[in-house]
Amino acid sequence: MTQKSASARAAAESVRFPDYVRNARARAWIADMVALCKPDDVQFVDGSDEENLRLCTQMVSSGVLVKLDSKLRPNSYLARSHPSDVARMEDRTFVCSRNREDAGPNNNWLDPAEMKAKLGKLFDGCMRGRTMYVIPFSMGPLGSHIAHIGIEISDSPYVVVNMRIMTRMGRAVWDVLGDKGEFVPAMHSVGRPLKAGEKDDVWPNNAEKYIVQFPEEKSIWSFGSGYGGNALLGKKCFALRIASVLAKEQGWLAEHMLILGLESPQGEKTYVAAAFPSACGKTNLAMLIPPKAFAGWKATTVGEDIAWIKPGKDGRFYAINPEAGYFGVAPGTSYTTNANAMDTLKANVIFTNVALTPEGDVWWEGMTKTPPARLIDWQGKDWSPGCGRPAAHPNARFTVHAAQCPSIDPQWENPDGVPISAFIFGGRRSTGVPLVMEAFNWDYGVYLAATMGSETTAANIGKVGVVRRDPFAMLPFCGYHMGDYFNHWLRMGRAIDSPPKVFGVNWFRLDKDGKFLWPGFGENMRVLKWIVERVSGKVGARQTPLGWMPRYDDIEWKGLEAVSRSQFDELMSVDSKVWQGELDAHGELFEKLKSRLPRQLALIRELFGMSL
Ligand code: GTP
Ligand code: SPV
Ligand code: MN
Repeated sequence: MTQKSASARAAAESVRFPDYVRNARARAWIADMVALCKPDDVQFVDGSDEENLRLCTQMVSSGVLVKLDSKLRPNSYLARSHPSDVARMEDRTFVCSRNREDAGPNNNWLDPAEMKAKLGKLFDGCMRGRTMYVIPFSMGPLGSHIAHIGIEISDSPYVVVNMRIMTRMGRAVWDVLGDKGEFVPAMHSVGRPLKAGEKDDVWPNNAEKYIVQFPEEKSIWSFGSGYGGNALLGKKCFALRIASVLAKEQGWLAEHMLILGLESPQGEKTYVAAAFPSACGKTNLAMLIPPKAFAGWKATTVGEDIAWIKPGKDGRFYAINPEAGYFGVAPGTSYTTNANAMDTLKANVIFTNVALTPEGDVWWEGMTKTPPARLIDWQGKDWSPGCGRPAAHPNARFTVHAAQCPSIDPQWENPDGVPISAFIFGGRRSTGVPLVMEAFNWDYGVYLAATMGSETTAANIGKVGVVRRDPFAMLPFCGYHMGDYFNHWLRMGRAIDSPPKVFGVNWFRLDKDGKFLWPGFGENMRVLKWIVERVSGKVGARQTPLGWMPRYDDIEWKGLEAVSRSQFDELMSVDSKVWQGELDAHGELFEKLKSRLPRQLALIRELFGMSL
């Protein structure tokens, strides 16, 4: 018997497992992790209201959470993170496949054995002075045939209360898992043992940071960050990076997509799924309220960040939202831009890095036209308008349960999912890229999505506003070689009878004065209507080198004066010099992915080049 298994056995004996924790592999793994991390205490999280209140109260007293005024914002809290821990960290995120090539140039890579040795050292004793929480969760409705179970181990009570909102979490998961069920082990630590007498702080400072996926083993290890996608491991690490690998192996799709239902006045319902990079409009589009002139049209929300999509027996794709809550961008959210989100946020919310009002409520840039006269900013400092600092961090977020959303679709928890009629891909492009276009066919659609560029945002630590290729909005989230991913998409289009039509959109084009050319938000319904009617063959289009595009009269303009014919022409214009530059950028991406790039895509690029 080796040293390690002897000490693990000793740890297993010291862990008091509740009798409902019967899964042998889970018990062994938890015991191993206890032996490694050496926490003062182990708590099996049950997901109950009492437990949640106890953890929140404890975090209020340690200063991790501020309780908001119970009348203004019932049962809600504000968390302020460490200023260095405010977003995902793509440069600290790794996919450690056995072969380097399998991770692709789109992922940071280290040999799995080397990475495990590193992680082993970092995690050794990292929970001294802290409590280890064992958090069982289900991505997808509990017990449904499309759901997958994970167990996150974390030393952050903030992670526990967020996971309770974002996933189906708690005691019942153990029953579904049973003695032998499969789960994804997801290990998390904020990475700093507490010293004696020190107050609990879930926000790491100088810790070395690693967010690691092992795609063959289907496991996750995250060290040194307490924020969002770095720490709530069901979301990007599991539901995208690990799930994208599962999806390729099993013949489905795990995507960074919202799922939206659109019902016409005649009662025809169409579901679309749309991929935009982080902080580029998924939550807003998923909760859109059609303009007044669209009386009779209804828009309903199935999901706002992640979609798992499987071929159905009837030859169509069916999508489910594997999450149970929203971890949404706060800045820019208001009653004019996204009233459904504002109504979702009336109670039972955890806000992170927004500003606090003197009355004990929250505020962020864009929430109201005139900011309050005084605030406490996201770093806990006094703030007044014109002081030169933003009151909320640009990546400030809310965590809230999906069931509170007024536009929630009645089918949102249907384990069979909803049928998808169109895929929409969009980036944040201030120049060059038209408002909307439709790909000629599936392969051209894959090309459009594969070559999509977008300006970087505050959702990742790093430079903001730099155009980069973000294929399928999956650059930071694809758990394997992007060339293989393109191939998987091409193949999936052939695996079903009627692949959805594919569209490209861009809400973010600017005029010469730097103002948005397109009003966006609810007005995006005008573009969605054209898309829905293209799917049903009810509306026309003109052919362009890039694809099909609406003519002015193909769009419903009733009730909107803001966009004139000439403004529309500007929004739709395709400058061949700009697109020559785009084609060069596509070429650079393809060069990077060369070893596994599907030949179709290189050929389509050549064709585009000839027709421009
Ligand atoms: P993640 O949660 O990071 O994946 O972001 P997301 O894709 O859900 O983006 P979200 O809907 O939260 O929007 C991000 C920012 O873009 C917010 O500040 C929005 O106000 C802004 N935004 C969203 N839709 C539009 C639009 O149609 N037009 C304009 N101009 N801004 C928009
Ligand atoms: C994103 O960055 O796409 C998000 C936020 O949805 S996070 O959970 O941090 O990944
Ligand atoms: Mn996202």
